[in-house]
Amino acid sequence: MTERGILAFSGGLDTSVVVKYLQEEYDMDVITVTVEVGQGDDQKKIEAKAKKLGVKKHYNIDARKEFVENYIFPSIKANALYQKKYCLATALARPLIAEKVLEIARKEKVTALAHGCSGKGNDQVRFDITLRSGSDLPIIAPIRDKNLDRVTELEFAKKHGIEIDSIAKRFSIDQNLWGRAIEGGVLEDPYSEPPDDAFIWVKTKNLSDKPTYLEIRFEKGIPVAVDGKILDSIKLIEHVNKKAGDVGIGIVDHIEDRVVGIKSREVYETPGAICLIEAHADLEKMVHTKHENKFKSIIDDEWAYLAYSGLWQDPLKRDLDAFIEVSQKPVSGTVKLKLFKGSLRVVGRKSEYSLYSHKIATYGTESTFDQRLAKGFVELWGIQSTEANKLQKKRSSKT
Ligand code: ARG
Repeated sequence: MTERGILAFSGGLDTSVVVKYLQEEYDMDVITVTVEVGQGDDQKKIEAKAKKLGVKKHYNIDARKEFVENYIFPSIKANALYQKKYCLATALARPLIAEKVLEIARKEKVTALAHGCSGKGNDQVRFDITLRSGSDLPIIAPIRDKNLDRVTELEFAKKHGIEIDSIAKRFSIDQNLWGRAIEGGVLEDPYSEPPDDAFIWVKTKNLSDKPTYLEIRFEKGIPVAVDGKILDSIKLIEHVNKKAGDVGIGIVDHIEDRVVGIKSREVYETPGAICLIEAHADLEKMVHTKHENKFKSIIDDEWAYLAYSGLWQDPLKRDLDAFIEVSQKPVSGTVKLKLFKGSLRVVGRKSEYSLYSHKIATYGTESTFDQRLAKGFVELWGIQSTEANKLQKKRSSKT
């Protein structure tokens, strides 16, 4: 019986090379699956490319709505930024792509699961763990298994007549609705500034002299409207990406700790994510108590860490989701963002659940806050610190 391998196929260098490897080295029939999460690719072209590579069958699945509502929205609720910077665009898409591959794998009764990840990145972790959570079939990852580097891959692609577009020759790109990751090439020198033409979502030149305002309305932690207009979930993300990218917001350049221990220099374009997370986090501060705020930031950090590290299916992640979901009940309101020449600032917020009280906070005559009560409070609040200091001074003057 012929072996049948299934592969998540993007049409890029890695997955194209993998199709040929599976056919030639593993003697397999290949089924490819492209899962649309907002890569902005022409699906017809990808299908044609798959067919040209000689795959037996190609599937195209539009999972954009699921991606936004079941992956991006939970990440907004968690203010998820790995190492305070990365909005997890790639990390969030991988478990969904792998789930879709598994669905087709069952239908097509394949004998092996394949992916195009290298052994150096995080995506292998995310794919392997999701695939393993749902299947015992062997996992084949030729780039990792054969220890392939990009130069060898490019040569292999050339030899097999696989077309690679010019940007993919310079960088390794991964793109979806939540962001665009750019790696490799000149960016491997962490001190060299990314060239302007690496960016396609964020404008870097001739930025407008007028500020742009965005008023984002959230309901229970989910963005539902922009500038008073209710938008469908996919449109909302696309709209904020475009608005913010056009005024130079969204480039992130940082050193990232990968799961496998490598430190890497990562460059991203994530205009929508930056705006929506900033706005959401600001709103939370208005509607949550200071105790909730302090504790939730620990939960948020852990959530981002698990999502980054390929542990989307871990029970701890579900437990954190349950906590976060309850915490979002009062997170409804509107946040006003001012975007100007590449900088972003929250300039206003309001909510029906606001814990901000003007009559308590004001320095004016209408204040209802009795300052005299503060004296005793401050004394008790600091009692251990002041006593400890006095004691330490006393003891050190004796020695
Ligand atoms: N460092 C990011 C992550 O692990 C992005 C990886 C992007 N992949 C790529 N082929 N450029 O999620």
